[in-house]
Amino acid sequence: MAIRNQLKLLFTAGSLITAALANPINQNQKSLADDDDDTPLPLVIWHGLGDNYAAEGLHEVGALAEAVNPGTLVYFIRMDDTASRDQSATFFGNVTEQIAKACADIAAHPILSTAPAIDALGFSQGGQFLRGYVERCNSPPVRSLVTFGSQHNGISAFRECGASDWVCKGAMALLRGNAWSSLAQSRLVPAQYYRDPAQYDKYLEYSNFLADINNERAFKKEKYKENIVKLENLVLYMFEDDTTVVPKETAWFEEVNGTEVTPLRARKMYSEDWIGLRELDRKGGLQFRTAPGEHMRLEEKLLNETFAEFFGPLKLGGKKASRPATLGDGDL
Ligand SMILES: *[C@@H]1O[C@H](CO)[C@@H](O)[C@H](O)[C@H]1NC(C)=O
Ligand SMILES: *[C@@H]1O[C@H](CO)[C@@H](O)[C@H](O)[C@H]1NC(C)=O
Ligand SMILES: *[C@@H]1O[C@H](CO)[C@@H](O)[C@H](O)[C@H]1NC(C)=O
Repeated sequence: MAIRNQLKLLFTAGSLITAALANPINQNQKSLADDDDDTPLPLVIWHGLGDNYAAEGLHEVGALAEAVNPGTLVYFIRMDDTASRDQSATFFGNVTEQIAKACADIAAHPILSTAPAIDALGFSQGGQFLRGYVERCNSPPVRSLVTFGSQHNGISAFRECGASDWVCKGAMALLRGNAWSSLAQSRLVPAQYYRDPAQYDKYLEYSNFLADINNERAFKKEKYKENIVKLENLVLYMFEDDTTVVPKETAWFEEVNGTEVTPLRARKMYSEDWIGLRELDRKGGLQFRTAPGEHMRLEEKLLNETFAEFFGPLKLGGKKASRPATLGDGDL
């Protein structure tokens, strides 16, 4: 049975970030320029499974974002101010409620709430949760959403836990047997983006989170589409050698059913534009990118380039601003 193999490696995502950022970060903060147009938009970051908002590796990424775009306010989304509780909330909880909490926290934040827009960076499951923020709340609105190794089209397998990962084992004990139970769907985070194409009817019936934000059910929520289309950029990084996320192509919204891989642009969710990805693509805002290596092996150089290209001042000066939309009508 597929529901067994996912959690252990995702659990170590935080320490992998630390390991990957070998160079110490230069916190050379320039004072903010006088010109308001130069003030970078705030950045919100949502971490992955098994990580916590206070983790060193995550804060190194935040410091890097500030170094690349000096003056960036970085906010780390958390489900609890206590790091250990925030970590266990990556395994346990109702994702709908978690997103509602992130929405409320951001809307109540003195700086974020007054910003004209924010940028967003999601690691692994944090990526699809930030997409949930955009679709359901988007107040303040997100300009660029960048996700690394996220499970936008769900996962079809879970990994083995390490011998002493008790939080992971606890979650797995509950998952084993029935990912579609109301217990799993209301309490176990990975179950809420579990999506096995072989059990598609059950998924449509029971999925507490993914089937909703992907607008896969008969009734389509128009607001989800409207909000995705408002993005300037949705940047989807897939790790080339990702063996942690099954299937890795989920990072690009690809459908993997057995040996058959269907790219997003050949899927019904795109041709019928269930969540606005097609419209976003037409205006040049949908970016499929690859990152080298295994899940969440982030390289500082790639992060730097990404932050320079998609985050920073309201008016993006880089390549993005002058990119023409290249897709014609009806050809995909
Ligand atoms: C998750 O929380 C939402 C909001 O409280 C609730 O409507 C929904 O029924 C919950 N999901 C499950 C599977 O219990
Ligand atoms: C996956 O493939 C199986 C076997 O061909 C098929 O029955 C099922 O409907 C497919 N699922 C999806 C979501 O396309
Ligand atoms: C990333 O950017 C920071 C800030 O500009 C710089 O100090 C660092 O050397 C850069 N790292 C790489 C690998 O380019």
